[in-house]
Amino acid sequence: MRSLWALILVLAPLHAGGISGEEYRSRRAELRKSLDGVMVLFGANEPEDLHVSFFQDPNFLYLSGWREPGAVMMLTREEEIIFLPERNFREENFTGRKLGAGDPDARDKTGFDRVLPRSALEAEFARLAARSEKIYSIPADPRAGRLLALAPLHEQRSAAALLAPMRMIKSPAEIELLSKAAEASVAAHLAAWKRIRPGLYEYQIAAAMVDTYQELGCERSAYAPIVGSGPNSTILHYMANRRRMDSGEVLLMDVGAECSDYASDVTRTVPVNGRFTARQREIYNIVLGAQNAALAAVKPGVKIRGDHSLYSIAYDYINTHGKDLHGEPLGKYFTHGLSHHVGLDVHDLSDANAPLKAGMVITIEPGIYIPEESIGVRIEDTVLVTETGSRVLSGALPRDPDEIEKLVRK
Ligand code: GLY
Ligand code: MN
Ligand code: MN
Repeated sequence: MRSLWALILVLAPLHAGGISGEEYRSRRAELRKSLDGVMVLFGANEPEDLHVSFFQDPNFLYLSGWREPGAVMMLTREEEIIFLPERNFREENFTGRKLGAGDPDARDKTGFDRVLPRSALEAEFARLAARSEKIYSIPADPRAGRLLALAPLHEQRSAAALLAPMRMIKSPAEIELLSKAAEASVAAHLAAWKRIRPGLYEYQIAAAMVDTYQELGCERSAYAPIVGSGPNSTILHYMANRRRMDSGEVLLMDVGAECSDYASDVTRTVPVNGRFTARQREIYNIVLGAQNAALAAVKPGVKIRGDHSLYSIAYDYINTHGKDLHGEPLGKYFTHGLSHHVGLDVHDLSDANAPLKAGMVITIEPGIYIPEESIGVRIEDTVLVTETGSRVLSGALPRDPDEIEKLVRK
């Protein structure tokens, strides 16, 4: 175990710096090379709800690195423009100074050669649309809809379809940040295992985990922590984290850090008192067997779902091992997908039908959830697809049930 704690110490000065302005610029250049129309992307607005902090739209972030609300970008093969909202001093009193299009450092700070106020949006859109037949946007966005109404005869195309192939293949800098996020999540899970004991509340475990990765330099959680004990372990996205855990139960922790905008997604299921019951261990080992079978199959060319996919490998394993209390196979208790891409978003933009390629980062996360027995087990790792197979970015976190028992029992 010494090596795991050494890993945590090595992680301490984690500040990775993030993606360079040059990389954002080259992503736009790459996209624009084949762009046969106008792409319009809306950044996220400032949330009015005090319960949530600002999350930039991931497509917007991917192409710009811009983290202030209310921006819009327009790209064509020849031009790129970012539009910034007019400064609003009353709002800035609450949420801080924002960059205005007229600020002298607006080009430097945004990395765009042209920075215009939002008031110029419609005129610029009309100008660019007049030179092309296609508009690329995210059509579900009502703000895009209002703009598109100005060009009713243009062909409407999906911006996501152009962005997905780019976002699915991670650059070296992205892989570095995704690795940091996964390693910080490993440290968080290990810290939780040290803390777990009967009588604690689920939110106390969540607190220990979030504290660990934030201390390591990761700014926030990649998603709301899921810490479910006993019956709550069978609820896939349980986020209330309010229950008191008891001896004899399992605790499912699906908790991942976000570092410099990049996510991780890691789940382990452990016994609250440090010892799995025979039945919990049986179910755990089936999920582990399914995960190992799927992990062994990860390599370029393989598909995530469909026939002969990673999903079918995991499902077949689960459905041919063990039974429920009624003698039925367990496949019906694997109630979610096996895998999704991870990047700026924990469920990253992707084409789930595309075969894997080197440089993709995905999860492998089989699970069995039996409410009747109050047993839910998920084991989830974040995995980089390599030329020859895979590297498990969260692989330093034990999965073997004996090793887990030792670490939880102290
Ligand atoms: N943490 C959410 C998921 O595993 O998809
Ligand atoms: Mn996941
Ligand atoms: Mn997860």
